[in-house]
Amino acid sequence: MYNSIKLTDKVHWVGVNDKETDLFESLWPLPEGIAYNSYIINDDKVALIDTVKINYTDTYLEKVRDVIGDKKVDYLIINHMEPDHSGSIKSVLEAYPEMKIIGNAKTMNFLEGFYGITEGTQVIKDGDELDLGSRKLKFFITPMVHWPETMMTYDQKDKILFAGDVFGGFGSLNGFLFDDEVNIDHYEDEIRRYFSNIIGKYGPVAHRTISRLGKEIEPEMIASTHGLVWREDPAHIIQEYDKWSQQETEEGVVVVYGSMYGNTKVMAEAVARSLSENGIEQIRLFDVSRKHPSFIINDIWKYNGIVLGSCTYNTEIFPPMDYLLKALESRNIKNRVLGIFGSYSWSGGALDRLKEFKENVNCQLVDPVIESQHAPSSEILEKCYEIGKNVASAVKENNE
Ligand code: FEO
Repeated sequence: MYNSIKLTDKVHWVGVNDKETDLFESLWPLPEGIAYNSYIINDDKVALIDTVKINYTDTYLEKVRDVIGDKKVDYLIINHMEPDHSGSIKSVLEAYPEMKIIGNAKTMNFLEGFYGITEGTQVIKDGDELDLGSRKLKFFITPMVHWPETMMTYDQKDKILFAGDVFGGFGSLNGFLFDDEVNIDHYEDEIRRYFSNIIGKYGPVAHRTISRLGKEIEPEMIASTHGLVWREDPAHIIQEYDKWSQQETEEGVVVVYGSMYGNTKVMAEAVARSLSENGIEQIRLFDVSRKHPSFIINDIWKYNGIVLGSCTYNTEIFPPMDYLLKALESRNIKNRVLGIFGSYSWSGGALDRLKEFKENVNCQLVDPVIESQHAPSSEILEKCYEIGKNVASAVKENNE
């Protein structure tokens, strides 16, 4: 047995768990692993929905056979062409050469480019249906969540939405599959970290997509390409994704510093102490050199206050801080209270970049904006306290 898991009478999960990959997309740490979810509908006609990363093809095909035995796969529906889901397409096609590959017009471009496949395909449009016998699947073209060809497939009989990456999360499936089989609180951070880092840039598109689907279908189960299948409370993940897509936050402040010899760290700690003295209970303090930005971005996505402090390096901002700023700019971070401070030894530079960051994002800058030379003086530390006090006051006001 290769552990296919039944969603309904005719629908099975045939995905795999990846605990070997250290960095998803060679960028994002996977301390809890990740799942590549694929599903098979064993109706009169057999349809696979997405595949898995190429490393797991053999296990995957065994799972497929575990469900359908000697039957053939009639259709492979491709909701998303990123290779964590499309990597096994060629092997599936070799196993089932008469299978038809279904996708939208943009899918086919990727299919040829990545795998040289140009035949045996069927192009569908938004709203088209595919008859499998006892059910019809309906297709929704949902571009840019988070690639141009992304789409979703809806099983109208069992009311399952196969959503591609949307509603997914980091974290492998450790024996469980469904939301009612696990303590969600443990995975919430990894789901938000997935959203904020992978989908967050396309938040407005995700929000429009969720709004549209909400008007057209009432899914009883959400089956994404990563993470849990939501059958007890699909509304929960829909609400969470919709909230994150609109950058709705809660009260709390993320303080991030870049510091070579500890002087900027002292300033950041003064800000954090002041935040605490002024009633902020959710404070996250990060050393930008030592915490991977994906975790910092995750907390920034959660809370409504950010304080960024950086030393200067070779007349410019400290490189790890610049990386974080670019990541936040690229994700159009907005609606946050923002405090900034810089430091330097023999030439300024960090504060200029922090001010530029402020111009690039729609956040509310709080006074004072300060720059320290050498070790922070008592006057500078008093200003740091002032930043903390003013940020605390603004985030409380914004949270009312
Ligand atoms: Fe899970 Fe966008 O691939």
